[in-house]
Amino acid sequence: SGPGIAGLIAGLAVDVPDFPQPGIVFKDLTPLFADGAAFREIVDATVAHYGVGSFDVVAGIEARGFVMAAAMAYAAGVGVVPVRKAGKLPRATHAAQYALEYGSAALEVHTDAFLPGQRVLVVDDVLATGGTAEATLGLVERAGGVVAGLTVMLELEFLGGRQRLAAHPPHALLRV
Ligand code: PRP
Repeated sequence: SGPGIAGLIAGLAVDVPDFPQPGIVFKDLTPLFADGAAFREIVDATVAHYGVGSFDVVAGIEARGFVMAAAMAYAAGVGVVPVRKAGKLPRATHAAQYALEYGSAALEVHTDAFLPGQRVLVVDDVLATGGTAEATLGLVERAGGVVAGLTVMLELEFLGGRQRLAAHPPHALLRV
């Protein structure tokens, strides 16, 4: 047997000190995307955790969530919806401000992104403070979707994101 999913992620993630600001240790997961076997394993494990048929669409959070979302949606035979940084989506949107570990930002989703009651699996690469995920879950619901789950590759437990996401406990492949 290999290192398991958590070990795979731990082995390929790269800590980048002082990015994007002094004092922040950035968790770079791009090596996981670049490794074909690892990428397939994390995508398949995430889809299997929920099960094909338990969600109707995958919503990916810009930017690294897009990579996971498209692969998961393809694997499950469903569509993919982008949740984007402010000003990127061309039609009518719902918008949510949120605080980041470093700074603040706003996310948007098209108002017609989801069919009413559609079950939406939300995905991002990293859960840190949880602000991004919390904002996204609110957007999904405002756009008429039902949150089927929230999944990340890596959860940084010391930042307490899970505590603010009690309504939809996140699934994380690796928690550190
Ligand atoms: C990172 C990461 C998550 C978010 C997590 O994205 O990809 O989306 O921060 O942080 P939080 O839990 O504290 O909200 P970033 O804002 O760097 O955007 P990017 O993917 O577009 O670079």
